[in-house]
Amino acid sequence: MKALVLSGGSGSRLRPITHTSAKQLLPVANKPVLYYGLEAIRDAGITEVGIVVGDTAPAIQEAVGDGSAFGLNATYITQDAPRGLAHAVLIARDFVGDDDFVMYLGDNFIVGGISELVEEFAVGRPDAQIMLTHVPDPRQFGVAELDALGEVVRLEEKPRQPKSDLALVGVYIFTPAVHDAVRQLVPSWRGELEITEAIQWLIDNGRKVRSTTITGYWKDTGNVVDMLEVNRMVLESLQPAQHGTVDASTEIIGRVLVEHDAEVSGSRIVGPVIIGAGTRVSGSYIGPFTSIAGDCTIADSEIEYSIVLGGASIRGVRRIEASLIGHDVEVTPAPKVPKAHRLVLGDHSKVQISS
Ligand code: G1P
Repeated sequence: MKALVLSGGSGSRLRPITHTSAKQLLPVANKPVLYYGLEAIRDAGITEVGIVVGDTAPAIQEAVGDGSAFGLNATYITQDAPRGLAHAVLIARDFVGDDDFVMYLGDNFIVGGISELVEEFAVGRPDAQIMLTHVPDPRQFGVAELDALGEVVRLEEKPRQPKSDLALVGVYIFTPAVHDAVRQLVPSWRGELEITEAIQWLIDNGRKVRSTTITGYWKDTGNVVDMLEVNRMVLESLQPAQHGTVDASTEIIGRVLVEHDAEVSGSRIVGPVIIGAGTRVSGSYIGPFTSIAGDCTIADSEIEYSIVLGGASIRGVRRIEASLIGHDVEVTPAPKVPKAHRLVLGDHSKVQISS
């Protein structure tokens, strides 16, 4: 079995961060989202991985290289524009050959990995094995309709009126039958070849499509709220350690990982928190569920439930919350604008003015 990892796309819901970074490389607990997916693929016993890349190809290639750091053998497949998941399958035809394959969306985060799904596929080997999960707003996803026996009867991409609350999770397993399916497709209303339509084609042509509904944790990290939530969840199981230096006046509470060459002084850090290599924290409060990447400066500031990317500097700002702060960003206080109250007050007035 091979794997096809989709790492193109424009990341429109994460702009402006994704103007300059690939969404799959945004860090969760200081590690790119994509790495978690690659590790899950390796843990499922797969070694041949095709990575479909678009505009952000150089950054993805630099981050993953030949795949050996993950115990994988990576091949890059270039998609000229975001033409859809089924288009990715179409252009990966030579790489996949006649093997079964897992298709994994590089911005999806699946707790517990994919080994179970791969094992389930092996029993019965359907032409498509899909994963579903209940979501509050199915309109943002591919949605499945099941019959009374739990068989998938219909799939619809981003429906206005969803037939169920079961969203397609971004991991699929296919036999080579999917190649016939993707060849029949025409672009959808959003101009893409939809994998949901390819799976529908398999169903309509009497092929076996099986679904598993997962109750565990899954997130499409395509937006800031979900990124922060995944970060929170990963930090929940953070192993605390101090590789950098923490001075005596600093108070560390709960699980905090201070990476090497980081320096923390005169601060209060309430875990779970990760402080990246070479980062300096002074006179600050860093609250729960915060990941600060490497080479940042946090001085005289307060921040919690946030992700800060490499090289950012935050000085004299209280308090930052639920934020995603990009590479090399500078956050400083605005200069104080003099405020004036113009008053005409009668004798003996008592006035309270907040200032
Ligand atoms: C894609 C799929 C959709 C699936 C989702 C999961 O959506 O088209 O069916 O539910 O991934 O993340 P997209 O990321 O293209 O909006």
